[in-house]
Amino acid sequence: MRVREVKAERRGVCGAARCYVKAVDQEVTLSCGSCGTQRGPETAQNSAAGASAIRQVKREKWFFMGKVILDMSMSLDGFIAGPNDEDGGLHDYFFSPSGDTVQVVEEGIKTTGAIIMGRRSYDLGDQFDGFVNTPYKVPHFVLSHHVPAKPAKGATAFTFVTDGLQSALTQAKAEAGDKDVVVGGGATLAQQVLSAGLLDEIQIHLVPVLLGEGIRLFDHLANAPIELQTTRVIASPGVTHLTFQVRKEAKEPV
Ligand SMILES: NC(=O)c1ccc[n+]([C@@H]2O[C@H](COP(=O)([O-])OP(=O)(O)OC[C@H]3O[C@@H](n4cnc5c(N)ncnc54)[C@H](OP(=O)(O)O)[C@@H]3O)[C@@H](O)[C@H]2O)c1
Repeated sequence: MRVREVKAERRGVCGAARCYVKAVDQEVTLSCGSCGTQRGPETAQNSAAGASAIRQVKREKWFFMGKVILDMSMSLDGFIAGPNDEDGGLHDYFFSPSGDTVQVVEEGIKTTGAIIMGRRSYDLGDQFDGFVNTPYKVPHFVLSHHVPAKPAKGATAFTFVTDGLQSALTQAKAEAGDKDVVVGGGATLAQQVLSAGLLDEIQIHLVPVLLGEGIRLFDHLANAPIELQTTRVIASPGVTHLTFQVRKEAKEPV
């Protein structure tokens, strides 16, 4: 359990000057140093003092307040790439967005605070200069067993993590603050985070194409069935954006 306590920005409990914000993991409690009254856990909705305290926690990045999201494009038959890493048109919606997809793409860029990816995805991205003009100007963490001699082209900050998934996630969360940590692929990494129960949400950009063969996203899941709840469906002609919450009871600690 992580606890942090500082003087509140505004008087919250009884109006005395000595009010404190106490954050325990992601819950915020207000307590008064004068009369000892405590109130909480607070939400942004239930009081102005609660909203102020939560803003303080987020702004000062006391704790990771975002979500861990798997965000990937997939063909209707479940592939994220062809057998030789061909993209199969799965990313066209991102580079030429139209209709509601414009908003989905903008939202993803705005809410992403850090990205985790596997080494093959990094190598392929770099090979095609994919990081030179990326709109994701956030720290990237690449899981690998070895660090490359030369960094990728472009201004993106890459950290190569050689001591495992948990370490990559901890580092990414520390950078993301109140934004989300996005697991951006590929399949090997996605399967690890799913199997370890580390995801809060899955976003699939489902492209209406049948690739027939290639790299499957949802293979080798250690703890299937993993229960999901559909939280959003946005249909565009060239892609359907599906959002699922991962049910907490289906999660297992690593
Ligand atoms: N459709 C989409 O949205 C999307 C998104 C991203 C990628 N892709 C595609 O997916 C394919 C790549 O996926 P992939 O499954 O083959 O590879 P990947 O997940 O990108 O990378 C796998 C590699 O990452 C490293 N790695 C993974 N977990 C690790 C761990 N726990 N510790 C240390 N190193 C670890 C290993 O590299 P080392 O050899 O360095 O140990 C492993 O071989 C490509 O075709 C890419 O274009 C599609």
